[in-house]
Amino acid sequence: MFSTTIGAGEGRPAFLRPETAQGIFTNFHLLYRYNREKLPFGVVQIGRGYRNEISPRQGTLRLREFSMAEAEVFFDPKDKKHPNFNNVKGKKLFLFDNEKKIKISLEEAVNKKVINNEALAYYMYLTQDFLLSAGVDSQKFRFRKHAGDELAHYATECWDAELYSERFGWIECVGIADRSAYDLNAHIESTGVDMYALRKFVKPRMVNVKKIAPKMDVLGPLFKEKTGKIKDLLEKIDVKKTKKISVELDGKTIEIPENCYEIVETKEKTTGEKFVPHVIEPSYGIDRVVYFLLEHNYADIKKKGEEYRILKLTPQMAPIKVGVFPLIGDQKLVDIANEIDKNLRGAGITSYYDDSGTIGRRYARMDEIGTPFCVTIDHETLKDSTVTVRDRDTTKQERIHLKKLVTYFQHKVAF
Ligand code: GLY
Repeated sequence: MFSTTIGAGEGRPAFLRPETAQGIFTNFHLLYRYNREKLPFGVVQIGRGYRNEISPRQGTLRLREFSMAEAEVFFDPKDKKHPNFNNVKGKKLFLFDNEKKIKISLEEAVNKKVINNEALAYYMYLTQDFLLSAGVDSQKFRFRKHAGDELAHYATECWDAELYSERFGWIECVGIADRSAYDLNAHIESTGVDMYALRKFVKPRMVNVKKIAPKMDVLGPLFKEKTGKIKDLLEKIDVKKTKKISVELDGKTIEIPENCYEIVETKEKTTGEKFVPHVIEPSYGIDRVVYFLLEHNYADIKKKGEEYRILKLTPQMAPIKVGVFPLIGDQKLVDIANEIDKNLRGAGITSYYDDSGTIGRRYARMDEIGTPFCVTIDHETLKDSTVTVRDRDTTKQERIHLKKLVTYFQHKVAF
C-alpha cells in the first residue's frame, strides 16, 4: 500500500486505499439497516485505488493510481442463490479450464461445482454480458479461475475476466471473488462493531443466553464517574464470543476484574439468529477495460489505396455519438446544422459540429475517434426537411426527417 502521513512533519501514518471495498465493509451495519435488514443486497462504489507498483510500465494497464468500480453483494451463507439466476441459467460462460477454453451454461457450471455457487456464477455472467456488449472481442475474452496459491488472502474462490492484448497477452480486467465472511469478521474482531445480519425464525423461540450482570457496588468505587458508561458496555458484550472481559472507552482498553460482574444465564425470546454475511465481489479495473475497448475496436485499414484509421466503438460507449456536417457555401444549411447540434446536445446526445473540408474528410475524422453516426445537411434538406444519416459500420445512408432526428438517435444510443 502507499503510505503517507496526515499533517505536517512527522504526522500520523496513513495509507491510500488499495481497493474501494473496505469503505463498504466498515459501513455494513448502517447499509444493512438502510436496506431494511434484508439480504441479499449490494453496494456499488466507483473511485480511485492506489497501489505501490514498482514498475508501472504498461500504459493504463499498470498504474499507481487507477479507477475502480466495485460491488459488494451480501448474502446469507446458507443461501448463496441469486433471485435472477433462473432467468440466465441457460446462458453460456466462456471459461478457461485445464488449459482450454470451454463454453458452459451457468446451470451446468454450478451443478458440476466448476463454480461454487449461483451468486458467483450470476455476477460472472453479468460481467461477461457487460464486457461483450460494451465492445470487447469475444475471441479475446475468457474467465480464468485462480489457482489455490494465487488466491488473495480474503477469497475462497476467484475468477478473473481476462482480455487478450496483442502487445501484452492475457490481462486481468475484472476479478469476481467470493470473499466469504473474511472482511466483516476482521472488522468485527478489530472494532467490536456489530456487523451481523439476522436470519429470522418462522416463529419466535426461547433461547438460553449468558449475560454479564455488573456488580455496581464493586464497579462504582473502582471506576467512579466512568461507571455508568462501563456498565452499558459490559451489558452489550457477547459472552459466548469473549473470554477476557474488557471494554473500550475513550480510546483505551479497560480490563474488568472478575469480582466486578457475574455471568448469569437467562431465557430470552428471540426472533432469529445472528450470522456474518458472505460477500460476492465483482471488482472492475476501469482503465484496463477502456484500454481493451480501444485495442479491440481499432483498425488500420486501406481506403482507396490510402491509410485509413477506424475505431468501431459501440454507440453506447462512443464519447461522441453524432457528427453534424452542413454542406458549405449556404448559410441556411449552417443554421440548420447548428440547430441540430444544439438539439442533440440538449437531449444528452453528444454531437460534434464540423464544417471544414470535404464530407469524406469529415467522415474520416469521426471514424478515427469512434463516432458511430454522421448527419449531413444538404440542399435536399431545404426542400423536404430531411438529412442524410450515415452509419459508420455499414456505411449505409438513410434520409431522416428533422423532426424525428433526436428520437432516432435516442434509440440508437440507448443501453
Ligand atoms: N477488491 C479487489 C481488488 O482490489 O483486487
